[in-house]
Amino acid sequence: MDTKERDLICYNLLNDVFMENAYASLLLGNYLATVKDEKDRAYITGLVYGILEKNVQLNYIVRSLVARKPKTSIDVLLKIGLYHMRYMSTPTYAAINETVELTKYVGKSGISGFVNAVLRKSEKVELPKEGEVPDAEYLSVIYSVPMWICEKLLEQYGYDFTKDFLSYEPRKKTHIRYNSRVTTKEEFEENIKNFDVERSILGYYVTHNVLKTLNKSACTAQSLASMIAVHCYLPEGVESPVVLDLCGAPGGKSIYLEELCPSAQIYCCDLHPHRVELIKKYAARMKSNIKALLSDASNIFPEWVNRCDIVICDVPCSGLGVYKNKPDLLFNKKASDIDKIKQIQINILENAKNYVKIGGVICYSTCTVFKEENEEVVEEFLSRNANFVFDEIKSPIVKPNNGTVKLFPHMDDGCDGFFVARLRRTE
Ligand SMILES: C[S@@+](CC[C@H](N)C(=O)[O-])C[C@H]1O[C@@H](n2cnc3c(N)ncnc32)[C@H](O)[C@@H]1O
Repeated sequence: MDTKERDLICYNLLNDVFMENAYASLLLGNYLATVKDEKDRAYITGLVYGILEKNVQLNYIVRSLVARKPKTSIDVLLKIGLYHMRYMSTPTYAAINETVELTKYVGKSGISGFVNAVLRKSEKVELPKEGEVPDAEYLSVIYSVPMWICEKLLEQYGYDFTKDFLSYEPRKKTHIRYNSRVTTKEEFEENIKNFDVERSILGYYVTHNVLKTLNKSACTAQSLASMIAVHCYLPEGVESPVVLDLCGAPGGKSIYLEELCPSAQIYCCDLHPHRVELIKKYAARMKSNIKALLSDASNIFPEWVNRCDIVICDVPCSGLGVYKNKPDLLFNKKASDIDKIKQIQINILENAKNYVKIGGVICYSTCTVFKEENEEVVEEFLSRNANFVFDEIKSPIVKPNNGTVKLFPHMDDGCDGFFVARLRRTE
């Protein structure tokens, strides 16, 4: 494939993402289905994700050059050109020529002169400096994060924390763990000893290429934050605990919990049939015995009432803690969506309380750092349910604070942003 053909795929895909609010991660699979060459696939993936990651910054540059917001298709062409010029090693003249050619190729010859002129002028656009513009605007443009997120973080955590959180660059490696049902730590470490591997407190960071060579049932990709959450969920003092994981797909936490606590009977549910299938497939690959169930966590399920030692609510959330790896996650969201997500989280938690035995625990977790979705949800729940209290998180690998564990990438060695609380039913 030549550059024009590859850029055409990126152009079509980005138009779909911007016009239809579609998730790039879901579309990419369809678009790549006909692309055989690994280098072409890597180029397309890199350019699409790169543009999404830099979208806010690219918007700032485009808005500095044109009086009115361009139509989406023109905006995408400009962003492809700008991305080549600013963030890839493409020489400026080549980036401009290729974008002008792409403009003609997609049937927009009439605006090729405009595209050419805007890209030429863009070389003079400078990004704002600290103190020159309001803090939220500066952070938003420099770290390419929607303004409402910066405003919310500034309000909740202050400037220095927000800047450190947004500027943290995660490792370009995947976190994995070995599967104790298939191999031992010693055997697994012997197999990876000649590879480029970095240890974490619970697993290993490996490159994508190393991951491809490893045995598919002897190990699995699982983020360090997700593993730490499971250590916070661990049942205590019950011989064969009954665990209900209400929002469980694809099953990573339930499957790891079963490895740490083999006597547990674990039921892993999800709302969506295709995601329940993911749980089944993942459990089969990991030789796990967890049971997959289709169920809506916000509707009562009478047969489960008062039966569980642990109810896991790893609820749907804004995903701010993992946004660096999923740049399209927050892309089409707005500040008011956080209140809607919070309501869903509260409904799930309110329903979960019915399933817990006296003395049992609800484990509430999210992969976000917004307080509305974390502290506020559990505090609201506790204020309405006097028979629940914060339960101490005893795992030696975490430092709980007021009965909750909060992880931040810039403070916890690159761990995803995460929140866990244990809520014990007292009567
Ligand atoms: C954060 S993910 C769970 C990740 C999972 N715990 C793991 O470790 O693999 C949230 C899941 O909740 C599911 N979900 C969303 N709304 C739900 C509902 N009302 N009932 C059950 N599951 C729901 C989503 O389909 C998604 O799979």
